[in-house]
Amino acid sequence: MQRPFPLAYSRLAELLSSQIAASTYLPGDRLPSVRELASRHRYSMETVLRAFRLLEDRGLVEPRPRSGFFVRQKDIRSAPSTQSTVFHATNVELSELRHQTILFGTATDFIPLSLTLPSPEILPTRQLIQTITSVARRFPAEVVRQGEPAGTSKLRQQLAQRASECGCFLEPDDFVVTVGASEAINLALRACCSPGDIVLVESPSYFGTLEIIESLNLRVVELATDPEQGISVQDVAQALNRFPRIRACLLVTNHSNPLGCTLSPETKQRLVELLAQHQVALIEDDVFGDLYRPNTTRPVVAKAFDETGSVILVNSISKILAPGFRLGWIAPGKYRDRILQLKSSGSLATPSLTQLAVAEFLKSGSLDRHLRRMRAFLTEQLYRFANAVVESFPSETRISRPSGGFVLWIEVPCDTLELAKQALNRYRIAIAPGKIFSARGDRYGNCFRLSCGYRFSPQFAEAIATLGKLIRSLR
Ligand SMILES: Cc1ncc(COP(=O)(O)O)c(C=O)c1O
Repeated sequence: MQRPFPLAYSRLAELLSSQIAASTYLPGDRLPSVRELASRHRYSMETVLRAFRLLEDRGLVEPRPRSGFFVRQKDIRSAPSTQSTVFHATNVELSELRHQTILFGTATDFIPLSLTLPSPEILPTRQLIQTITSVARRFPAEVVRQGEPAGTSKLRQQLAQRASECGCFLEPDDFVVTVGASEAINLALRACCSPGDIVLVESPSYFGTLEIIESLNLRVVELATDPEQGISVQDVAQALNRFPRIRACLLVTNHSNPLGCTLSPETKQRLVELLAQHQVALIEDDVFGDLYRPNTTRPVVAKAFDETGSVILVNSISKILAPGFRLGWIAPGKYRDRILQLKSSGSLATPSLTQLAVAEFLKSGSLDRHLRRMRAFLTEQLYRFANAVVESFPSETRISRPSGGFVLWIEVPCDTLELAKQALNRYRIAIAPGKIFSARGDRYGNCFRLSCGYRFSPQFAEAIATLGKLIRSLR
């Protein structure tokens, strides 16, 4: 006798839930589509949908618009706590602490969870080398000649074409090519600030930027940053009223580092208008803007709302294509002349070979194909790392839910400076302790940043479990 209809869907639900229990599908994995399951098991689409609904009711799967059903993340206390804005202008004193705690350079014998670098595995290395070789053969004179301070027009043309994707209409002359986003940030700050001036920054804030601010003898006001909404325009307004020496506001507006939050288009617009009224520059760092989640869209930049030229947009290929090329750029708005002057007096120009190669790579459409793969890869690794954290960290742990990019900000019940030291010295595991994300190294002592740019493997699973044990021993 044929089985009655209701049993068909509950059998399918059992089958899928036992596959989830056996880790055939991991949290964050997409399950086969309704159509695929229906034709594979000869069920009707309705039966498969009912099975999915049953699993959803049991909290095992979740639907995502236009993408199907996914295995749900284990329950997690999300959104690390926000500290309120302390309206106090402070010097930055960080480099010493950062030098003690973060490994830079070529060391390879440690587990890389500290720096926001994508795994070389996901970078189109062979294709880039081919492009470099071909460019060098075709344009030998251009490669060896010293270029203009603004950068090669071939690259600036490509950058101008891509700008519309993030909501801007820019021309090749609106760009200056730099040595990474770091040089771009350095130039932007020097163009609008003098020693002793104040910069508004989000908090927690990327330590590299804080170190640049420190080296220029600037001060900061650290704005409280909500893990999902970002900074508040009201706080910015209050700070502007209190501190006449604020000259710039420096923010990672999309998929920030370390929180992973994105400012809404409305917030970006209000912020741009407010800062323009006070004649304060917005330095907008968009290095993670292209690393949005698959099935979502590219967030606009605040620069898209700039009517006065007071937004300085900064970007680079370090997070998406080749950190080793050290290639970035800046759309300096009304600060263009000053920035060109600073660029030529500082480093004359940016090396031509990499500029020409990246221009070629962009023109061929290869970047878009690569980015599609990279976004899927990074999203999967984020899920896997987050899940491993939930499995092995104490229950009080809180973890960010980044809108994009590939870092997690994690709050744990122990001193994370000690955690970072012990993890590195005893187990060669590198993480970025929370304190280096504050101007004076005195906040976020119970947080750390975990970079998830590498493929999650048994070695990383073991590293996360080790961190979990260390946290328990330090609490
Ligand atoms: C937010 C942010 N801005 C800028 C940079 C520096 O970028 P680049 O390597 O292009 O100098 C980084 C690097 O981690 C970053 O996270």
